[in-house]
Amino acid sequence: MKKQILLIVSGGIAAYKSLELVRILRRHNIAVRAVMTKSATEFITPLSLGVMTEDQVYGDMFDLKDEREIGHIQLSRQADLIVICPATANLMAKMNAGIADDLATTILLATNKPVLAVPAMNVRMWNHAATQRNINQLRKDGIMVMTPDSGAMACGEFGPGRLIEPPEITREICAQIGVTFDTSLCHGQSPTTQSNGQDISENNQSPAGENILAGKHILITAGPTHEAIDPVRYIANRSSGKQGFAIADTAAKMGAKVSLIAGPVSLATPAGVTRIDVQSAMDMQSAVDDALPADCAIMVAAVADWRAAHNAEQKIKKDGDALAPLQLIANPDILAALAKHEKRPKLLVGFAAETENILDHARAKLSRKGCDWIIANDVSTSNGQGVMGGDHNDVHIITANGEENIKHATKESVAQTIMERIANVL
Ligand code: C5P
Repeated sequence: MKKQILLIVSGGIAAYKSLELVRILRRHNIAVRAVMTKSATEFITPLSLGVMTEDQVYGDMFDLKDEREIGHIQLSRQADLIVICPATANLMAKMNAGIADDLATTILLATNKPVLAVPAMNVRMWNHAATQRNINQLRKDGIMVMTPDSGAMACGEFGPGRLIEPPEITREICAQIGVTFDTSLCHGQSPTTQSNGQDISENNQSPAGENILAGKHILITAGPTHEAIDPVRYIANRSSGKQGFAIADTAAKMGAKVSLIAGPVSLATPAGVTRIDVQSAMDMQSAVDDALPADCAIMVAAVADWRAAHNAEQKIKKDGDALAPLQLIANPDILAALAKHEKRPKLLVGFAAETENILDHARAKLSRKGCDWIIANDVSTSNGQGVMGGDHNDVHIITANGEENIKHATKESVAQTIMERIANVL
């Protein structure tokens, strides 16, 4: 079924960019309904937005005909995702406070759908403690708030607060609703109507890029490992498995056969993915061997580097003040072993979770482990994002030929970009 976005445009100078966003979304065969706040109409007209969506633009909650059908509930229920673009400081403050004094804020309070906010504002407004407080709380409440770009602003100042460019917003929206993002649909003439007047969004075409990995086998490791010390204790780490599961989900949506070797996590298995649950690094290594051959392996798991030299059969007892009897030995490096394996996948991708000198450590790891790409992420808590266990990531894809930074984005969006790069190679 065709995916549908409910776009809420609030009143900022960047409102005009929502027109381009609608154009690119519709090229991706995504239907868009739009709601404008009163102040948004000071920047662009409902008519111009309506021309782009080819639909009525909603704005007044007290339009009796709409509200007889409980318009604010209906509008949000029909959408797969609500996108606020641009999201002003004022609108986000109201959301945080639960204020519902117009159609846009009433929809946002009444909805049961995921909400993606794309902020744009003056740098001082963005940096203001009140705005940061509101955004932190909204993120805790489950609203996805993108981090704006930095650069020169319409007001003449410089810094964070610029609206992310519409193609990047589209990439995030596609990742959220399971549509394949296609850069080539982001440029060129308005596609709203073709020369014959036909609306291309009604062509019934399948989303661009679907099934591009048909016939390929992708092997993915994800999550932590648990290394037993005795029947009740184990060594573990903070990996949630979310990034690896998001990659498995995206690969399956692209038509690949996916084997997901998962450490102990309580995440749902993505549709179309074959999941093999394991506990320890040793189990993970044999599951990886069993799943070969594969066209590509993506090793996202945070495998424990060490395990207890002896896994005691009975619970180890305290012995007064004596030091704990724990002795550790190294686990096999599954990634490095796969690089030398006779069935080595054509494309071998490792991850590097680092807390300092991210790029240097990652480049060293690329050659030490013998893989083709390393995806490095900053898991230090100093960056304030809480990558481990959180929903966002900030990664660098490092290859022999260069590197690409995917800035603070949801793990779904990072998965989408990684899988697009992999699909290009495969
Ligand atoms: O050495 P480090 O743990 O930082 O390397 C991270 C990369 O190596 C990840 O891709 C991880 O899945 C993989 N790895 C592995 N087996 C290990 C340790 C790490 O496959 N024992």
